[in-house]
Amino acid sequence: LVNGELKDWNGKTTEVISTISSTSDYKHTVLGSTPDMGEPEAMDALEAALGAYDKGKGVWPTMKVKDRVERMENFVKKMETKREEIVKLLMWEIGKSLPDSQKEFDRTVEYIYDTIEDYKELDRSSAKFHKSGDVYAHIRRGPLGVVLCLGPYNYPLNETFALLIPAIIMGNTTIFKPAKHGVLLITPLLEAFQSSFPKGVVNILFGRGRAVAAPIMKTGKVDVLALIGNSKSANALQDQHPKSNRLRLVLGLEAKNPAIILPDADLDLTINEVIAGTTSFNGQRCTALKVVYVHDDIKDEFLKRFSAKVDALKFGNPWDDGAKLTPLPEPGKPAYIQELLDDALAKGASVQNKKGGEHSDNYIWPAVLYPVSKDMRVYEEEQFGPIIPVLSFSDISEPLDDMAESNYGQQVSLFGKDVYSLSPLIDTLANLVCRVNLNSSCQRGPDVYPFTGRKDSAQATLSVHDALRSFSIRTFVAFKDN
Ligand code: G3H
Repeated sequence: LVNGELKDWNGKTTEVISTISSTSDYKHTVLGSTPDMGEPEAMDALEAALGAYDKGKGVWPTMKVKDRVERMENFVKKMETKREEIVKLLMWEIGKSLPDSQKEFDRTVEYIYDTIEDYKELDRSSAKFHKSGDVYAHIRRGPLGVVLCLGPYNYPLNETFALLIPAIIMGNTTIFKPAKHGVLLITPLLEAFQSSFPKGVVNILFGRGRAVAAPIMKTGKVDVLALIGNSKSANALQDQHPKSNRLRLVLGLEAKNPAIILPDADLDLTINEVIAGTTSFNGQRCTALKVVYVHDDIKDEFLKRFSAKVDALKFGNPWDDGAKLTPLPEPGKPAYIQELLDDALAKGASVQNKKGGEHSDNYIWPAVLYPVSKDMRVYEEEQFGPIIPVLSFSDISEPLDDMAESNYGQQVSLFGKDVYSLSPLIDTLANLVCRVNLNSSCQRGPDVYPFTGRKDSAQATLSVHDALRSFSIRTFVAFKDN
């Protein structure tokens, strides 16, 4: 979709392959194909976005709030009619379970409606005049220009739209490249984008990031790079942008969220939460619990009961009733997970659960690893997968020191009976990460709460409320009482 036109494609295409086996011999299923776009298409999209912004005087950046709202409402209503199709593609393209795929769709729709309401509120609050001394000010929020959006494969709809929707509604013009896995599910929405917004406001490119996003960044004409994914991709794109041109970054990156289990923790509750935190969507969440610190006094009991519960989880295809574990969408992932396991085993860890690491093709059973040490790759790398590294500690300073040394700082989960009264510890944790979860696993939602991180975990904040601010700038008109 470029400049309001759905272009025909006669060039090279790439097959979209699902790692869900359609046969018992794990033969991967071909779902369709997408165009391999490159620099010429990328430049067309950039020209379209620049043209629609038209140095701030375009139809979209100057449109009245109520008209922008009307167009966004029109878009989301059309989107709601595509639920079944998109949910099915979520299951096949990324292996997300049926309830979680439905949740991703519904959460995205709710996010768009909440964004519309918050945008209207933002407008209402800017209607009043301020006065300081003899200077009156009419303060409002305006767009930034052209935004390049790239989302991740684990939430190809929800997280991509958490960037795209606020960017659009604030009056920016956009270029959007869908994630590598979870790309076909954008196609049912192309017509809705085309018919809801003026031409050039939303431009959608299919292809590899380095083929379409890199040439756009090289021109220095993008005002905002908005990306949820890994820091390697973010840095590579940022490096393309000429140093002499300013660039705003809205980034949601990696994390290594720890669970810290104190000796007085309620083990039933803790085990349930740590299971959810480590194994939901097979650990493919930036908010997943990626390392578990358990106090020495309860380590043995925790490992025994936790490992048994991991082995009792149900494996299956996304539509299977009650399936908690599903195939991983990245073809190369099983080999990578095996490398991490081999490295940890060679350095002294052992797999605690009977089924840990067993796999058939991309169906991999979570492995509880203990004792994990800091020289192991699984401790250092954000594996985005089903390995559960466990460390024990005797003094709380041990996990705190590790967190302070870590390159990441998104969230932590603290488990213990008296955690609510541990305010000095909670204050320290809040200075190391951005969200402290008491007796519950880490997560992003509800989407009205700030979602961000310290160090390499994020730049800017993404809640419904904050995202509108991340994609805009405060401007004001000043006048004197004369
Ligand atoms: O990949 C990171 C996601 O933001 C996780 O979101 O906590 O809602 O699953 P979630």
